[in-house]
Amino acid sequence: KKYVAEPFKIKMVEPIRMTTREERVEKLKAANYNVFYLAADDVYVDLLTDSGTGAMSHEQWAGIMRGDEAYSGGKSYFKLLDAVKDIFGYKYAQPVHQGRAAEKVLFPTLLKKGQYCIANMHFDTTRAHVELSGGTPIDCVCEAAKNPAIYDDFKGNMDVEKLEKLINEYGKENVGAVLMTITNNSAGGQPVSVKNIKETAAVAKKYGITFVIDAARYAENAYFIKQREEGYQDKKIADIVKEVFSYADAFTMSAKKDAIVNMGGIVGIKDNAEMYENVKAMTIPYEGFITYGGLAGRDLEALAIGLYEGIDDDYLKYRIGQMEYLGSKLKEAGVPFQFPVGGHAMFLDAKALLPHIPYNEFPGQALALELYLEAGIRACDIGSYMMGNDPDGVQIESEFEFTRLAIPRRVYTQSHLDVVADAIIAIKERASEIKGYKIVWEPKVLRHFTAHLVPL
Ligand code: F0G
Repeated sequence: KKYVAEPFKIKMVEPIRMTTREERVEKLKAANYNVFYLAADDVYVDLLTDSGTGAMSHEQWAGIMRGDEAYSGGKSYFKLLDAVKDIFGYKYAQPVHQGRAAEKVLFPTLLKKGQYCIANMHFDTTRAHVELSGGTPIDCVCEAAKNPAIYDDFKGNMDVEKLEKLINEYGKENVGAVLMTITNNSAGGQPVSVKNIKETAAVAKKYGITFVIDAARYAENAYFIKQREEGYQDKKIADIVKEVFSYADAFTMSAKKDAIVNMGGIVGIKDNAEMYENVKAMTIPYEGFITYGGLAGRDLEALAIGLYEGIDDDYLKYRIGQMEYLGSKLKEAGVPFQFPVGGHAMFLDAKALLPHIPYNEFPGQALALELYLEAGIRACDIGSYMMGNDPDGVQIESEFEFTRLAIPRRVYTQSHLDVVADAIIAIKERASEIKGYKIVWEPKVLRHFTAHLVPL
């Protein structure tokens, strides 16, 4: 597939450092074979996350200067409210400092102790906030998501039939929320169709359950709908976004992704005044007064601008085009990954690429480390290494062993993607020589961020 040329030119540059393989061998050892310990300065192409790592536009930087820093009632706050009304059609918006803060101020108002939250898939922090609210998160993704090798237009979808079965099984009074993550990050940045969102909303409504969208990558999801769903080819992204959100009661958003800011988040509420009151009551003690919600006025200004830039048709064509370019190069070379490529990340199938490494020697992690050694690329494990241990201290075997390469927005060029593709292909050629890893120290929770490993 041809590379889609950038709909922007570069006005400011940030040098990145090339290192030698010898240096990287030393750096990795000093980092205890954990990519989170690497200094960013020792990384050439940093694909650890697409969150907060995008490049703001000159309009956004100009907005930074215009930001109104009033404690209460600042201009930038009203500009953000207007943008949310205009783009999503929602009456209420509460800015917060990032996505997990949106979860923190909304979920305890929706979930009572012992209730379930059923999602296509929960992102890690969402799962954590459901649990912190006393609820139980249940993933209910469609079967297609579970086979990386097979094409499907909408691998992010909810299994709606199963959703209804679960609601009946648990009892509707025991389900506090139905949640749709768009795109579905944990399944590989896979999109969800309008049809699926509509059907999910109908089930939620039938049982009187609040339907929430986790909107981190709402714009990328809309682009996939335009490309793949019948009847949407001639619609504008903005119209697709509006339709999608019309089916939900509320959304939580990490604005660090599709709204292309380095920090920020939003809770959007369609029209439920009581829900908004509850969210405000949570925001003030945790995030700050409602007209800034943990952000500086300048951040609100950049966010209001970024929401529009994120849904620009030309930008999205380039953005998803970049992913498809990388995907087609790897497909051609026979590299296994969650296929088709997602909106924000390539999920390499380390289980298929390194079949000789068992789950408890962490193939996803081994591949991530090999990418660093090969070309100074930083990726991360989404597999058994990340899953950690069960309450008895026994290693969990993950259903997947992925290595995630998340692509920051408007940051890297075609040449960088070629470096990435070449590195992966070179590793594939000598895959059988790659060894697994062993953990020599780990903390009790979220071990993947800080554990120490050694090669086997
Ligand atoms: N929801 C989804 C779907 C996410 O991907 C993330 C973050 C969050 C919520 C939380 O937002 O980081 O602003 O607090 N995902 C990042 C990632 C960290 O690398 O995938 P946050």
